[in-house]
Amino acid sequence: MNEEQRKKLSFDSRAVYYPPEAATQSLNAPIYMASSFQYDAEIYQRVVDGERKTVNIYGRCGNPSEYQFEEQMMQVHNADACLATASGMAAITVALFGLLKSGDHIVCDWTTYSSTHEMLDHRLTDYGITTTFVDTADVDAVAAAIQPNTKVLYVETIANPSMKVSALPPLVELAHSKDIVVVCDNTFASPYVMRPLEWGVDLVLESATKFIGGHSDAIGGAICMKSDLLPADFLEQIRWNTMVKWGSPISPFNAWLLLRGIQTLHVRVERACQTAMTLAKHFESHPKVNRVWYPGLESHPQHEVALAQMPKFGGMLTFEVKDGASAVKVLDSLKLATFAASLGGVRTTTQVPATMAFLDIPEEQLNKMNIAQGMIRVSAGLEDAQDLIADFDAALAGI
Ligand SMILES: Cc1ncc(COP(=O)(O)O)c(C=O)c1O
Repeated sequence: MNEEQRKKLSFDSRAVYYPPEAATQSLNAPIYMASSFQYDAEIYQRVVDGERKTVNIYGRCGNPSEYQFEEQMMQVHNADACLATASGMAAITVALFGLLKSGDHIVCDWTTYSSTHEMLDHRLTDYGITTTFVDTADVDAVAAAIQPNTKVLYVETIANPSMKVSALPPLVELAHSKDIVVVCDNTFASPYVMRPLEWGVDLVLESATKFIGGHSDAIGGAICMKSDLLPADFLEQIRWNTMVKWGSPISPFNAWLLLRGIQTLHVRVERACQTAMTLAKHFESHPKVNRVWYPGLESHPQHEVALAQMPKFGGMLTFEVKDGASAVKVLDSLKLATFAASLGGVRTTTQVPATMAFLDIPEEQLNKMNIAQGMIRVSAGLEDAQDLIADFDAALAGI
């Protein structure tokens, strides 16, 4: 199948198909467990002449397994380019350090993954890069936060863990009118649920550790690009001047696991979306639950926005127990769903964001992020939904 034919395929077919390996016709890509590659005079000359991705040099500079994963990420995100990284945080770091320099400014939603927030709020400030946090569901607030030195508008397509869905078209229009690059972390959604590049976003970041890998066994990240604002070779530039220099390549084995994960992404996430909706509806009428946050519910503040820009609503939801202090007790009582960090795997995982991932963030800031002490985050897995409901009901009955 040629590239033209591949581009015409539906999402599901693009996720499953990739060409067989040329040397052996193997359906599955080989894993190139190599940190170093042999030179000859011709390869040496090509490297001297500035060739990079087309010639294998050293594992930190790139590896064929990494390139195979990048190819498939481009397919599922409809991207023009992709750069794989050691983790989701590496994707965020490499993208931001590649885009920004001292004196630049970011506008970002109040709620992002805790490590992202801490990086913007603390670490980047050490390098002279500042951030204004706003509610990105409010386009006027975003417009008011933009400064002459604003270079990046940063949002999560479904925010971790507030579940906020920001409307992308008005944000993209506003940002691009001021030459501001729009960067979206799409981890909670996954490319099956949301493909921000199709909505004009310039760079999409994924923690592939989550839904893309899907089995809680590999850490990895990716930056995907389709942009009129950035140079066509932007990701190749930052591959060399940032990712390679900062030492954050993905391991070949992880790239291979994540490549395999992409092939079942649509089936797994479809099921996770169904289960998340079933759980969300169940919790909505539960006497021990204050509030449920799931973009598929009419009660979600951005339900209409989600309907307009996402074909599905994702496998993530949060709910608040009335007795906030007992959230950990609920999770500790679960027998089928697992009390664990991370998300997006085949097993349903749960955590209490306020006292786990967001432990270091002061309460005043947690309020702005819409993270209550009793908030429980659920990543719907592939178990039977009724078994999960019985498990949660039994745990909730204990408080
Ligand atoms: C939304 C989001 N972005 C990024 C990350 C970081 O990903 P990784 O753990 O692969 O570095 C996470 C991790 O939980 C996340 O939830």
